[in-house]
Amino acid sequence: MDSILVRGNGALSGAIPIAGAKNACLTLMPATLLSDEPLTLTNAPRLSDIRTMTQLLQSLGAEVASLQDGLVLAMSSHSITNHTADYDIVRKMRASILVLGPMLARYGHAVVSLPGGCAIGARPVDLHLKALEAMGAELDLRDGYVHAKAPGGRLKGAVVEFPFVSVGATENALMAATLAKGTTEIRNAAREPEIVDLARCLKKMGAKIEGEGTSTITIEGTDRLGGATHPVVTDRIELGTYMLVPAICGGEVECIGGTLDLVESFAEKLDAAGVSVTQTNRGLKVARKNGRVQAVDVTTEPFPGFPTDLQAQMMALLCTAQGTSVLEEKIFENRFMHAPELMRMGAKIEVHGGTATVTGVEKLKGAPVMATDLRASVSLILAGLAAEGETIVSRVYHLDRGYERVEEKLRACGAHIERISA
Ligand code: UD1
Repeated sequence: MDSILVRGNGALSGAIPIAGAKNACLTLMPATLLSDEPLTLTNAPRLSDIRTMTQLLQSLGAEVASLQDGLVLAMSSHSITNHTADYDIVRKMRASILVLGPMLARYGHAVVSLPGGCAIGARPVDLHLKALEAMGAELDLRDGYVHAKAPGGRLKGAVVEFPFVSVGATENALMAATLAKGTTEIRNAAREPEIVDLARCLKKMGAKIEGEGTSTITIEGTDRLGGATHPVVTDRIELGTYMLVPAICGGEVECIGGTLDLVESFAEKLDAAGVSVTQTNRGLKVARKNGRVQAVDVTTEPFPGFPTDLQAQMMALLCTAQGTSVLEEKIFENRFMHAPELMRMGAKIEVHGGTATVTGVEKLKGAPVMATDLRASVSLILAGLAAEGETIVSRVYHLDRGYERVEEKLRACGAHIERISA
């Protein structure tokens, strides 16, 4: 297994290009199952999660060609032969459940393995299933698989009301509703930019959707959808992560392709901590306003609130801030696994349930640490960049699921970072 070696090297400055969003791409790809015409995605990120979704779609009989070094995904589902998403692929990635809605909507039946547990919490899929049931699906859970059927071969429009916000369940319901008979209203829908991006792409394919980006999305089902070409929206989590580089190390970084609307609540917290964020004509420019950053309290929430996917990275910054910060994790119940690793680097953190209290120290110290999940792994790299001495982050396969060319992007800003291949 590869590891990454980081040596604290002072202030970092430069320009970092931000890729297309992993989480948008992972929902846009299954949208190909809704049509027999080609769907082409541009600005796709080059990540192992995208390769897993490619394998899953190919296992169903879809054609997926990765062009221009992976930046373009040309897909076609005109010859779907298999309607079963197998455990062997689904277990690698929870987002696999996103094939269920589209397959069921287009073919009237689908069998998808349940994704199983995940390191950051139980993460069930009950809301996905309830949404499809509201649209008339008959579901049978057997042998670890969901066997789904639409009576008469077609889902029916319905009111789908979520008890709390779920990004994935909103995406599954939205895709399924585009081919259902009649009108669907999704209430308490997720408002994430990735949902808006999905809706935009579905509209290009001919879907009738209103209200994306608000809590109520209305979809008028159509008989068929066509093809489209769609650029994947910028990755706001990768953007936020690299915005933290000058915040934690000093220097000035311009994140190319970044826009403020994607990271507003995050940028507000940076501002309160003493970090300025300015929109330029090609991205977001970030630098500390004065010396050391100040403590700030952070609570994770669904969009437009502070994203849970930036909580670990923000914690790395607050470990070096002046004062005490309180971080509350409201989305996932077990998402502080990076805290003990940061503590190995000299951070002062106390965790009680979903609350972490972080008292900033002047300097972190390099140490061997272990990445426990995707966002945790990059938080350790950020901490390593700001630490004295050498940090070795092991188990970086998590990192490769969500960040492309990390070493290259950071090295361009002057970082000392290298991959040690096992
Ligand atoms: C998506 C993102 C993930 C991000 C998360 C929250 C993708 C591929 N992943 O995950 O990076 O951290 O949104 O912004 O887009 N829940 C249920 N039942 C369900 C579904 C969810 O109880 O059927 C719970 C989850 O356990 C969690 C909360 O709802 O506590 C929110 O999860 P959800 O928004 O669904 O996250 P994902 O779509 O899995």
